[in-house]
Amino acid sequence: MPVFHPTPAELEPIERASRDELQALQLQRLQWTLQHAYEHVPHYRQAFDAAGVHPSACRSLADLARFPFTAKADLRANYPFGMCAVPRERVVRVHASSGTTGKSTVVAYTQGDIDRWADLVARSIRAAGGRRGDMVQVSYGYGLFTGGLGAHYGAEKLGCTVIPMGGGQTEKQVQLIEDFRPDILMVTPSYMQVIIEEFRRQGKDPSAMSVSVGIFGAEPWTEAMRADIEGSAGLKAVDIYGLSEVMGPGVASECVETQDGPVIWEDHFYPEIIDPHTGEVLPDGSEGELVFTTLTKEALPVIRYRTRDLTRLLPPTARSMRRMGKIVGRSDDMLIIRGVNLFPTQVEELVLQHSALSGHYQLVVSREGALDEVVVRCELLPAFAAADRAVAAREVQQRIKTMIGVSCRVEVLEPNGIERSVGKARRVIDQRPR
Ligand code: DLL
Repeated sequence: MPVFHPTPAELEPIERASRDELQALQLQRLQWTLQHAYEHVPHYRQAFDAAGVHPSACRSLADLARFPFTAKADLRANYPFGMCAVPRERVVRVHASSGTTGKSTVVAYTQGDIDRWADLVARSIRAAGGRRGDMVQVSYGYGLFTGGLGAHYGAEKLGCTVIPMGGGQTEKQVQLIEDFRPDILMVTPSYMQVIIEEFRRQGKDPSAMSVSVGIFGAEPWTEAMRADIEGSAGLKAVDIYGLSEVMGPGVASECVETQDGPVIWEDHFYPEIIDPHTGEVLPDGSEGELVFTTLTKEALPVIRYRTRDLTRLLPPTARSMRRMGKIVGRSDDMLIIRGVNLFPTQVEELVLQHSALSGHYQLVVSREGALDEVVVRCELLPAFAAADRAVAAREVQQRIKTMIGVSCRVEVLEPNGIERSVGKARRVIDQRPR
């Protein structure tokens, strides 16, 4: 199925602007944001005062490094609406991120924020090859999660026909894909795998589906997963990144013509990479924690928000804005096994390389005495015999030892042995005592 690439004339001028033009716009918007946050959010006023910086001290983009970071804990401490920079009556929508521990964080949007968000998701879908008139099935969850509604408004803004399917009801997902014949599917990559399996379970060929582009995000996924999904479903898979605290989906999104990492929509979000231990700003290309400052948000401006996502900033290619590398993992999901750092994505690559295994896997962490132990659970593809389980387990265990340097037990379960999720997959099961 041919995939459309926008021509330069079809891009917004800022997507092709020079670095200088972009940076001038960023600085102007940054100065506005710092002032707005300082004037209207007590938390920022106190934090800036305590750090001895005033918004007027920001004369260049580099000056941002003098301002304090914001963490998820700050949003929690100001639950629910304490971080809002506008009167509650101007907020037209709230979302909340689930959060595995403690209270969820609430985020808020003015009408202007909602409009800009829709514009950025429309830009993201266009970067993925979508255009007016395309049919888009949204299979991200609707509700407090930003995925469903975020994708939905953006697809409508671009002029697409939206199927607001939401997550779950896998048989129905397949039925709608077959009956309505969407061009684009927006869903988490792990749930895409489940949809592909459902095609096969029904004796249908997933590569015959109408979908030519999948816009996948909301969780880390690897190049191996991209190749697996593209091969099975006969489509182009692009990566969309975002987080509720900064906006939702569409903070960054990949261009279909390059598929070389999400382009950060830098006219609205200023990225930094920091050393997660010292907070020092690292040069582009270094791996570290991604930090965002919003440049246009009215209801919930965030200043130097620590995402906990680990990645790198990469030079511009298809657009004038910088890209981010694939997220290696969240610092929260990093396991330290006998001194070696281990991320679920590293295991994903190796599991997917094995021809007898499906792409579903989990890491079960427990504690033996003072040491953490990890068991990698993966599962056999239906076409293989039970006798292959032990062989596959041994082979993956060996690969993990050589490639990552960690000794762990690998259990290969029978087909469908790993729990399926309809949204973000749960990759780490932590059984360590609290
Ligand atoms: O997951 C927003 C979203 C919805 C993005 C749909 C893309 C598509 P939260 O629930 O607040 O928001 O979770 C944000 O998810 O900090 C990352 O750890 C992870 N994440 C999101 N997109 C990606 C991606 C939405 N493309 C958290 N690759 C983020 C890797 C991602 N991780």
